[in-house]
Amino acid sequence: MKITTLGRGNIGGTLARLWTQAGHDVTTLGRDGGDVSDADVVLVAVLSETVPEALTRVTGLDGKLVLDATNRMSEAPPEGYASIAEYIKAQTGGPTAKVFNLNFGGLLEQAAETSPKPGNIWVGDDETRAAVEQLTHDIGMEPLHGGPLELASVQESFAVMLMGIVADRDEGLLYYRFGSPQSF
Ligand SMILES: NC(=O)c1ccc[n+]([C@@H]2O[C@H](COP(=O)([O-])OP(=O)(O)OC[C@H]3O[C@@H](n4cnc5c(N)ncnc54)[C@H](OP(=O)(O)O)[C@@H]3O)[C@@H](O)[C@H]2O)c1
Repeated sequence: MKITTLGRGNIGGTLARLWTQAGHDVTTLGRDGGDVSDADVVLVAVLSETVPEALTRVTGLDGKLVLDATNRMSEAPPEGYASIAEYIKAQTGGPTAKVFNLNFGGLLEQAAETSPKPGNIWVGDDETRAAVEQLTHDIGMEPLHGGPLELASVQESFAVMLMGIVADRDEGLLYYRFGSPQSF
């Protein structure tokens, strides 16, 4: 797959490395932006408050399949939208998923050696399923589909609870997974 990441920090940079190792053709863009016309998949991994500006610095986004990994902690989504993911979709007009926001950049490198596989919750448009599943499996994680893009605001809000769980357990960063009773 040809992938372009908007953002090359903890999340964008780490996923770019892992996807390159998995054989994908990955380009990373920073705050100066660039062109994404070539990409099959665009990952948005910039701070939430910079999403509108980041999108304006990029050309070729129309109709692109976008994976939105952004989190907002206390701040509201862009005015008029329930979530950042739906705001992004309104700008691109393409299939969109909210994914990779409920995992920690600092744990992604170890995921492939972890058993059982850590989960990666996502919501989004049906047309994104194949890309989300492949790019999640490619880094050693288990995709967990929670529903349509209309649930992106729930997924964005859950990040606050995930941070709360991490703080409460005092064990450092955490993975999560779902399983049948037999698998526990
Ligand atoms: N860190 C995590 O564990 C984690 C986990 C899940 C989700 N997230 C979410 O992922 C997103 C990125 O987090 P991060 O930790 O990867 O951040 P980060 O390490 O600070 O990287 C931010 C990236 O955004 C770019 N950027 C900054 N301002 C910009 C602008 N105005 N326009 C376009 N790009 C701009 C930076 O470009 P330059 O390279 O040019 O400086 C940099 O590459 C955030 O929404 C965060 O909530 C993070």
